[in-house]
This record gives sequence, C-alpha cells and structure tokens, in this order.
Amino acid sequence: DDPESLVPRPPVVVVMGHVDHGKTSLLDKIRQSNVSGKEAGGITQAIGAYTVKAKDRKITFLDTPGHEAFTAMRMRGANSTDIAVLVVAADDGVMPQTVEAINHAKAAGVEIIVAINKIDKVGANVDRVKQELSEYELIPEDWGGSTVMVPVSAHTGEGIDTLLDMILLTADVLELKANPNRNARGVIIEAKLDRGRGVVATALVQKGTLHVGDYMAAGASFGRIRAMSDDHHKRVKQAGPSVPVEILGLSEVPNAGEIFNVLDSDKEARSYAQTFVE
Ligand code: GTP
Ligand code: NA
Ligand code: MG
Repeated sequence: DDPESLVPRPPVVVVMGHVDHGKTSLLDKIRQSNVSGKEAGGITQAIGAYTVKAKDRKITFLDTPGHEAFTAMRMRGANSTDIAVLVVAADDGVMPQTVEAINHAKAAGVEIIVAINKIDKVGANVDRVKQELSEYELIPEDWGGSTVMVPVSAHTGEGIDTLLDMILLTADVLELKANPNRNARGVIIEAKLDRGRGVVATALVQKGTLHVGDYMAAGASFGRIRAMSDDHHKRVKQAGPSVPVEILGLSEVPNAGEIFNVLDSDKEARSYAQTFVE
C-alpha cells in the first residue's frame, strides 16, 4: 500500500504464558474495567477477540488462541499480532510453557511485554521472576535491559492501568498503520459450525475494510458475508483494520489461522478458494 494511504490502527495483542498463571483472569479484569457496571455483571464471551478502550484509544486482544493456532497463523504468514503479553505468575516463576511462549513470540517477531501476575499472593517474588527471565534474554528496563515488565494482580487490579499504558507506548513505537480503503484482508481467529446459523467465523481485519455483502475466500472456504457482529454481539455493517468481527456466510469452516481475502465477485472468491482444495 502507498504510504499516503496508511492510517494508524490499534495494536493487536495476544496473551500467552504457562497454564494457570492467570491469562484468562487478566483478560477478564481488563475487560471488566472497560465495560459499564451493568454489563460487567454478566459478561458473555461474545467472540475470541475483542477491543478495549484505554486513554481514548483502542487495543484489540486475542483471547489466547493457544500456541497451536499461533503457530498455524505464522505458518500461513499471517502475523496477526503486534504485541505478546507474557503472563508469569510471581509465585511460580518461569515454567516450561513460559519458555515455549517466549520462543513463539520471538520466532514471530512480536514485541514482548511481561505481566508479572499474582503479586497479591504471599510468596510472590517479582525479582526472582525478573532474574529467571533474564536467562532467556528478557532483561527488565530497570536492570538496564529493554523488556517492559509490569507487576500486576488480576485479582486486585493493581498494575493493570500501567500494563495498558505500556501496551499503548509500545504500539506508538511500532507505528502501526494500515490502509482502510481497500478490499479487506485479515486472518480467521476461530470458526465453527452452528446449527442454526451455519459457519460462524471470527475474523480479524488487518488491512482494508470488511463489509456485509463482501465476497470472501479463506483457504478453501468462500462465500458472501451475510451478517456481521462485533465483540458485544452487536450487528455491524463494516469493520476496519485491527477490528475483530464475527461473520456469517462462509461455505465451510475455515481453519484457525487461515488468511482471508475479499474479492470483487462471487466467481473470483470461488476460484480463489478452489486453489486451496487439494
Ligand atoms: P489456563 O487457561 O488454564 O492456562 O489458565 P490461565 O493462565 O488462564 O489462568 P486463570 O486465569 O484460569 O487462573 C488460574 C488460577 O489463578 C485461578 O484460580 C485464578 O483465580 C488464579 N489467579 C489468576 N490471577 C490471579 C492473581 O492475580 N492473584 C491471585 N491470587 N490469583 C490469581
Ligand atoms: Na486455568
Ligand atoms: Mg485460561
């Protein structure tokens, strides 16, 4: 895309880390502090990705696609994430899946921000976690390194504002931009077959703007977008860069991590998809 056509877009963030270190709790806390009191009581997980507002800006979180989906995305060349928040429990420290997550994030070339979680717990030892991470070349800024590490508690909420600030600061450094005025291209985050609605897919737009009525191909799957809803289950007509939406209208269930493209006609979408059929 011509540089003149590029406009700033929100960062796309994935939360990774060892089992039970608090990834889901952290995401829940971030989302809770972001929705109205009424809504907070009964948050229903609409889709596997959602956008939150911080400082009048937006951050899109992917709800732990798991390492497998993350790897699949990379294999298809869809670097869907800009920033990985590595969650490490302050009482438990670096564990095998922490190391795995570090390796995945490094291989994908995404910026790592560490959230040292569970600092409310007796036995939390932030310095020990920093020491352990240093062995994997993640040196905290306060020790002269370049990795942002934020002590947080998903239970009390302590440190979460700072974490969001750090995500926005990192996004500024990355100068994330996309052209909203072109056929949409992006990645399928997850997809399933729903009895009543047919194929339901969560799509993350990376470039361009996706519209209801667009012809799309995602791997061997194709179709015309019949309906679209946002991360609050609200019907929407379009979605721009870094916006996740749930879409209806695909012919078959695409794989998580599949790249999607909007084409100019049904025929083009169909023949594009055909090239993926073995
Ligand atoms: P998996 O998805 O299973 O890998 O786990 P997870 O990383 O999503 O962790 P989850 O959010 O399920 O939290 C695991 C346990 O740790 C739960 O019992 C949480 O209540 C607890 N927990 C998470 N964050 C905190 C925290 O900041 N403080 C304390 N004290 N407990 C926490
Ligand atoms: Na868990
Ligand atoms: Mg979880």
